[in-house]
Amino acid sequence: MTVDASNALLRWYVVDKRPLPWRAQGEERPDPYRVWLSEIMLQQTTVAAVRPYFQKFTGRWPTVEALAAAEEAEVMSAWAGLGYYARARNLIACARTVAAAGGAFPDDEAELRKLPGIGRYTAAAISAIAFGRRAVVVDSNVERVVSRLFAVKRELPAAREEIYALAGSITPERQCGDFAQAMMDLGATVCTPRDPSCGICPLADSCAAREEGDPQLYPLKAARSRRPHKQGNAFWLQNDGHVLLVRRPAKGMLGGMLGLPTGEWGPDVAPRQGAPAAADWQEAGAVDHVFTHFALNMRLYCAEAQRREAEGSWWPVERLSEAGLPTLFVKLAERGAAWRSAA
Ligand code: ADE
Repeated sequence: MTVDASNALLRWYVVDKRPLPWRAQGEERPDPYRVWLSEIMLQQTTVAAVRPYFQKFTGRWPTVEALAAAEEAEVMSAWAGLGYYARARNLIACARTVAAAGGAFPDDEAELRKLPGIGRYTAAAISAIAFGRRAVVVDSNVERVVSRLFAVKRELPAAREEIYALAGSITPERQCGDFAQAMMDLGATVCTPRDPSCGICPLADSCAAREEGDPQLYPLKAARSRRPHKQGNAFWLQNDGHVLLVRRPAKGMLGGMLGLPTGEWGPDVAPRQGAPAAADWQEAGAVDHVFTHFALNMRLYCAEAQRREAEGSWWPVERLSEAGLPTLFVKLAERGAAWRSAA
């Protein structure tokens, strides 16, 4: 890409950038805390899903010190629904590390990468966007733009390093944060996966895939192996308008989150395996939920019991929406509540 193309992209960004709440509003550089928070939330998650969470978090915890001082359970419950819960545990750990070191995020990529939850992409994004330092910022949107710009013939994921090097070859020395975000916005709004709008693209004249005639062919991808299937049992145990919730172990799926008790998750799990108490368990259907690496079919069993018969916290059924349950358990709890009403 020539200097002209890079300038065309930056000019496009001035006019067409998305108004996102973590971007600079008048000031020259945005607040590093808000940049970091948004980048952690945006890992694996869309801008539309992140917006309300970002507003909630910055409203409640406007600084890294405030977040560092928050109760872990409160932060986990505020995160509920965003998914990939290891991010929330790392978020707290990172906030506490930064606050303990004086409250300033480092501006250097290598230093940023030492912090919990910050990998190559996130370190580069924070360094460029919050501090204006030169860094090569490649997320999946940028990956698509670069693979088209250069018509990269190697398939993903093997092509990742080649694409990173090509992205490095076009990253300018100045206005690095704007350049990175311009590439991301271009990928999100113009150079889209299925229907790129080449007619309005500021990079159209430099684009090899466009020249070839079929830009949506890129990025080439190796055939995906099928997601494995797992089964599991979840248990709705109720007593006098309350339901039993347990906090999941810190390590593992949905770690650190509140949920209904479950047994093991595996390829072939016996009915009622993992029940939290001896009770007259009744089947109440099943819920399907897809994680990145497997699809889960969760059967639900429901029963009544005395409180002393099970360990956990008894939560008022009418106030379950305040429990901060991950989406899998929201779906299961809806079934449990329906069973309760029908009983
Ligand atoms: N995706 C992740 N970070 C982003 C940002 N700063 N701007 C646009 N899209 C993004």
